[in-house]
Amino acid sequence: MGTVVAGVTLLAFVTVAHAALARTAFEKLTDYDYRGTTYYSVRNLSLYECQGWCREEAECQAAAFSFVVNPLAPMQDTLCQLQNETAATNPAAQPQRAANMYYMTKLQIRSENVCLRPWSFERVPNKMIRGLDNALIYTSTKEACLAACLNEHRFTCRSVEYNYVTLQCHLSDSDRRTTGQYVQFVDAQGVDYFENLCLKGTVR
Ligand SMILES: *[C@@H]1O[C@H](CO)[C@@H](O)[C@H](O)[C@H]1NC(C)=O
Ligand SMILES: *[C@@H]1O[C@H](CO)[C@@H](O)[C@H](O)[C@H]1NC(C)=O
Repeated sequence: MGTVVAGVTLLAFVTVAHAALARTAFEKLTDYDYRGTTYYSVRNLSLYECQGWCREEAECQAAAFSFVVNPLAPMQDTLCQLQNETAATNPAAQPQRAANMYYMTKLQIRSENVCLRPWSFERVPNKMIRGLDNALIYTSTKEACLAACLNEHRFTCRSVEYNYVTLQCHLSDSDRRTTGQYVQFVDAQGVDYFENLCLKGTVR
């Protein structure tokens, strides 16, 4: 009887946890680009302004920010492309390498811990850290995996890896830059690596 009551309590807790409202967050890719439909282009915005425009506009799904490196110009020439459709949300789509580019994708994450920073995660496609996992869970979506990292309280979740095929979500208290550990950052087809940028003291 006691077990049944405990089970009901747990179920109620899980339901409440899942009821967390989806919050808008961004993931950022560096030197990658995804195919998308640009509905608006603006020149000479800063990276932060570009991200802010995308956040404010309901139809914006992603923002591609590129810049021209010209050491002689007092200000950099930049291009912010707001997109209402993006291949970045399709796990089967492959990103393209692109120099001087930041690609920011809007996400809806069910967590109270989405931070106010411009982007919550840095995404590196087809990469993972070998080993160094603190937890393995299964989530049906990448967003649920990212939410699990933000909600983790047993350890500091610094990075997470999501496998779109097996739906495995690996949480880790290490990231690419962790010192004092031997970190192997390796190629992994079909797996994306995400670094939690919402942690206190992280400035990247
Ligand atoms: C995106 O914007 C383009 C250009 O304005 C428009 O033709 C297209 O229908 C839009 N797509 C969606 C999904 O809103
Ligand atoms: C953007 O900035 C560059 C460099 O300052 C300048 O040459 C260019 O005319 C600017 N473009 C626009 C559309 O303001």
